[in-house]
Amino acid sequence: MEPVHKAVIPAAGFGTRFLPATKALPKEMLPIVDKPAIQYIVEEAIASGIDSIIIVTGRNKRAIEDHFDRSAELEIELKEKGKQEQLRLIQEISEMVDVQYVRQKVPHGLGDAIYCARNFVGDEPFAVLLGDDIVYNPQRPALRQLLDAYERSGRSVIGVQEVPRTQVSRYGIVAAGQAEGRLYTVRDLVEKPSPEEAPSQLAIMGRYVLTPHLFDVLERTTPDAGGEIQLTDALRLLAEDEMLYAYYFEGRRYDIGDKLGYLQATVEFALRHPELSAPFAQYLQELVQQLNDAGEYAAS
Ligand code: G1P
Repeated sequence: MEPVHKAVIPAAGFGTRFLPATKALPKEMLPIVDKPAIQYIVEEAIASGIDSIIIVTGRNKRAIEDHFDRSAELEIELKEKGKQEQLRLIQEISEMVDVQYVRQKVPHGLGDAIYCARNFVGDEPFAVLLGDDIVYNPQRPALRQLLDAYERSGRSVIGVQEVPRTQVSRYGIVAAGQAEGRLYTVRDLVEKPSPEEAPSQLAIMGRYVLTPHLFDVLERTTPDAGGEIQLTDALRLLAEDEMLYAYYFEGRRYDIGDKLGYLQATVEFALRHPELSAPFAQYLQELVQQLNDAGEYAAS
């Protein structure tokens, strides 16, 4: 089986759910404790064996490019001040992996954003990681689990987890067929169905390993009512031509495109942070105690 070594990270969205924070800052650069969200995604890709990444940007690419680039002035400053640890941290980011960029000129949806990466990908299988889903699994990164399933089957694999029925309309939902352990065959897919229409509660969670045939089907995927080409619609066409699998990956997943999900990620990553863990846990315990004592949450 051809090993997968390329990944596409779409980062061209407007981030309207986080306005005004995202007016001038790409939402992928919002920090979770001390790292921008997109760095967690890039680190997961690297830990899964990816060595070449393309980020599809929109009008907001500057800050993302600068983040993964060298910063000569900052390095000199840190060297002069003897701040070795910080120097190591920022040098590591630029040496992590080969990152390229392509711009999606008009925001025509996720499917179209991925189509912008076709020349980079060429005729190889490739991974896609969406920035709104951060998955914590230090032993087996989510993408690695999908890559293992791809290497066993040779077929496209999409990452899923179960969500409550009340939340199905936020996701692409999979109609699953036969299962073997965590691996399901995919019978159908629906983008953001209503709870009544949803064929299951298995939601697509922003991790995909795809054959290059996806680019052929993207060319004949019709835009949705809002004029956007949906990746889920292209996957439905792919499933007609090729076998498509869904893999129920293991890991704590955060929806950081949602304000509450973003806060949960911030709190839980802070509790795992080597320096913050103890003092932050103590602060939270005291805060919870105060809230309990007050009997209800007091906004003041
Ligand atoms: C996208 C996909 C959807 C998937 C979701 C996961 O939606 O279109 O199928 O379930 O990501 O986060 P978005 O959140 O970009 O609207």
